[in-house]
Amino acid sequence: MRKITLILTLTLLAINIYASNTLKSPKGRMSMEFALNNSGTPTYSLNLGEKVVILPSIMGFELVEPKDLSTGFEVIDVKNSTFDENWTPVWGEWSTIRNNYNEMAVTLRQKNTDITMVIRFRLFDDGLGFRYEFPLQNNLSHFIVKDELTQFAVNGDHNAFWVAGDYDTQEYHVQKTKLSEIRGAMEGAIAPNCSQTPISATSVQTPFQMKSDDGLYINIHEAALVNYPALSLTLDDNNMVFHSELTPEPRGNKAYLQTPSQTPWRTIIVGTNGADILSSNITLNLNEPSKIEDTSWIKPVKYVGVWWEMITGKSSWAYTDMNSVNIGQTDFTKEKPNGIHGANNENVKRYIDFAAKHGLDQVLVEGWNVGWEDWFDKNKDFVFDFVTPYPDFDVKMLNAYAKEKGVKLMMHHETSGSTRNYERHLDTAYQFMVDNGYNAVKSGYVNNIIPRGEHHSSQLIVDHYLYAVKKAADYKVMVNGHEMVRPTGLSRTYPNLIANESARGTEYESFGGNTPDHTTLLPFVRLIGGPMDYTPGIFETKISKLNPDNTSWVRSTLARQLALYVTMYSPLQMAADTPENYERFLDAFQFIKDVALDWDNSIYLEAEPGDYITVARKAKGSDNWFIGSSVDENGHTSTIDFSFLDPDKTYIATIYSDAKDAHYEHNPQAYEIRKVALTNKSKLTQKSAPGGGFAISVTPATDKTQLKGLKIIK
Ligand code: NOJ
Ligand code: CA
Repeated sequence: MRKITLILTLTLLAINIYASNTLKSPKGRMSMEFALNNSGTPTYSLNLGEKVVILPSIMGFELVEPKDLSTGFEVIDVKNSTFDENWTPVWGEWSTIRNNYNEMAVTLRQKNTDITMVIRFRLFDDGLGFRYEFPLQNNLSHFIVKDELTQFAVNGDHNAFWVAGDYDTQEYHVQKTKLSEIRGAMEGAIAPNCSQTPISATSVQTPFQMKSDDGLYINIHEAALVNYPALSLTLDDNNMVFHSELTPEPRGNKAYLQTPSQTPWRTIIVGTNGADILSSNITLNLNEPSKIEDTSWIKPVKYVGVWWEMITGKSSWAYTDMNSVNIGQTDFTKEKPNGIHGANNENVKRYIDFAAKHGLDQVLVEGWNVGWEDWFDKNKDFVFDFVTPYPDFDVKMLNAYAKEKGVKLMMHHETSGSTRNYERHLDTAYQFMVDNGYNAVKSGYVNNIIPRGEHHSSQLIVDHYLYAVKKAADYKVMVNGHEMVRPTGLSRTYPNLIANESARGTEYESFGGNTPDHTTLLPFVRLIGGPMDYTPGIFETKISKLNPDNTSWVRSTLARQLALYVTMYSPLQMAADTPENYERFLDAFQFIKDVALDWDNSIYLEAEPGDYITVARKAKGSDNWFIGSSVDENGHTSTIDFSFLDPDKTYIATIYSDAKDAHYEHNPQAYEIRKVALTNKSKLTQKSAPGGGFAISVTPATDKTQLKGLKIIK
């Protein structure tokens, strides 16, 4: 009898294992369940403690041939393992990162086709990553993904923070609505004067942030987007279920794959406050270690640029007023200059002098190369060759001038969306950089993609960006990609990808404005994937001061512009305003000069999407700390507990804050700078104005005399 019971129990156990498998995170905080439903369709669900993050949600694919890859599966193997390591990023928010998860790899066989597919789950204490793998096999070699069927069923009508789903751009306003209100708010998500085309009335892009009534913060994104289209989410708002929406190629298919291959990781970061989400390293941890062996040439960069004057309309990228030119056939020395070309020798020298005087690393120069007359020609494939300067930009002279002053010029490659043209020129373009002393390029993809019918986030074009980044590494070139697909942590693997734009940047302050809470949202809906070249530091918030015809204005106080160097993490930071504007506020500019670009440690002190973010960071290899806080239109009072400081040291803090009467709209330039003394017992209460913020630099006092006259914060 006993034997029978034992056999019965074992059999039941076996059935259980095959019908449903549970997995717990290393500390047991999160749990998930994998199961096959009645149709043999894989499903997963996710919990934090007792709280439901994701209800049972289906997984699988529709292929072109065989059509169905989502039903009729059986489990043939389940492998559990655990992983724990500390690794060192080349640059980052932390000097070491812990990668600790429990893994469950479920091997499935579709009974009628004999196709094998693995779903690999990695459960961390702060969330889940999973991906599909297609091993080498007889019944599946080349195949076409018509649709990915992965769903994310959420447990209620959560608050949501989102960017409209779009196959080509992320440069939207960020929305704050209930899930049920996404449909109604979609129109307001679109920026005036922008050719943005949301995928549908309920499609959002990732990273996508939610906050549930029972206090969960949930962030959905993807990691390691390689050889696959980007993922957006379309909400079935009757059932609160998100469906995967992959960017199509011209025929409407999604991905062309060959075994062995795998999808990117689908990620769900979960926390009980906003700081948990921003402190998570799941995205990086699910990417592969650096494939670049010698990374000694990859360095954080602080830069100024001949840029804001073009963005505001004060000067132009183009050299002439012609509507069209033929690269290689137009002799620009014979053409009439338009008189407002920004990238001219004299002006560039002015920026180099400024960078040298203030210890900044590089000077970006846009509009240096011929072709800008055709930039907006949607039909033209061959707009730029990336090596031919306009006659008033002397490449050799300017690079020598910069070098003499200890500064580098930063290259600019606007591709005008023709990835085809860029690939034709890529080797020559990078070699030209090496020959002339450039080591960083800002590349851009404004305009419709050529090959026609492709999108900025379709598989072929996703492949192109990585091709450009890998090739750049061959030339020891760092890349800052604008209008590329939004990042998914690939800078761990290719750390020469030092930043992306891929969201609505500061440039929009000159095109009608960003909402005052914009920078409290971007860390949640954009930076989860990687650093952003947000180009902060605009001190003159009235754009008309540069260009009287431009009535736009910056929705931020000056103090908050400083805070962004800390709150918007990036190893690449621009001081985006013009030298003459900085000369007017050199005491505030001091913070931009001082702030570090690379960190040993980052502590998110408070973070509420759409309201405020306050973060403290310790500079890499130093005892200096920098603190930044950015707040929405309601203002905010922060209390900073400095217990993270070294108990054996006393520090001098320089606080750059909004003045009492500061306001992002009426009084943005009202700021105060004060010095106080701090210890690790200090608690500082600091107020931020509506649309304001503060920045603090903290350095240990080296002798007591430095503390004389300073108030010690208790
Ligand atoms: C858009 C980019 O975001 C901006 O920074 C750049 O100046 C223009 N394209 C021109 O390439
Ligand atoms: Ca842009």
